[in-house]
Amino acid sequence: MKNLLRPKMGLLALAGVVLTQVSAMATSLPRSISPQALAQEKGCFACHAIDHKVVGPAWKDVAAKYHHNLKYVPDLAKKIKNGNAGIWGPVPMPPQNVTQAQAEELARFILSLH
Ligand code: HEC
Repeated sequence: MKNLLRPKMGLLALAGVVLTQVSAMATSLPRSISPQALAQEKGCFACHAIDHKVVGPAWKDVAAKYHHNLKYVPDLAKKIKNGNAGIWGPVPMPPQNVTQAQAEELARFILSLH
C-alpha cells in the first residue's frame, strides 16, 4: 500500500511546482494593457493612490462611496474626462486626457477596488 501511494505524492509535488511556475509567469507578464498601467500612463497617480488620500481621494474610498456599483461607470467616466469639483474637498480635479473608452475602463477599475 505504501509503495502505491508514493508515485501519487510525487505527482502532487510536481503539480505544485508547475502551479508555482505558472503563477510566477502570470505575474511577470507585461501589464501594459491593465487599467492600473493605464492610470499610471495617464498620470492619475500624481494625485491619487489606491488606498490613501494624496491630492485626490483614495480610489478605494471612491469605490466605497459609490458602493462598488457599476451603474456609476458613466457618471465617473464623465468626471474623469471633464474634471470635477466639490465632492471630496476644496481641490478640483482637472479634466484628464483620456478617451471615453479609457475613462470608462478606469471608472470600472476604480469601482472594483476593495
Ligand atoms: C491634479 C490632480 C489629479 C489628477 C492628475 C487626477 N485626479 Fe482624480 N481627483 C482629484 C481631486 C482633487 C478629486 C476630488 C474632486 C472633488 O472633490 O470633486 C478627484 C476625484 C476623482 C474621482 C472621484 C469623483 C467622484 O465623483 O467622487 C475619480 C473617480 C478620479 N478622481 C479618477 C481619476 C483618474 C482616473 C485620473 C487619471 C486619468 C485622475 N483622477 C487624475 C485630483 C486629480
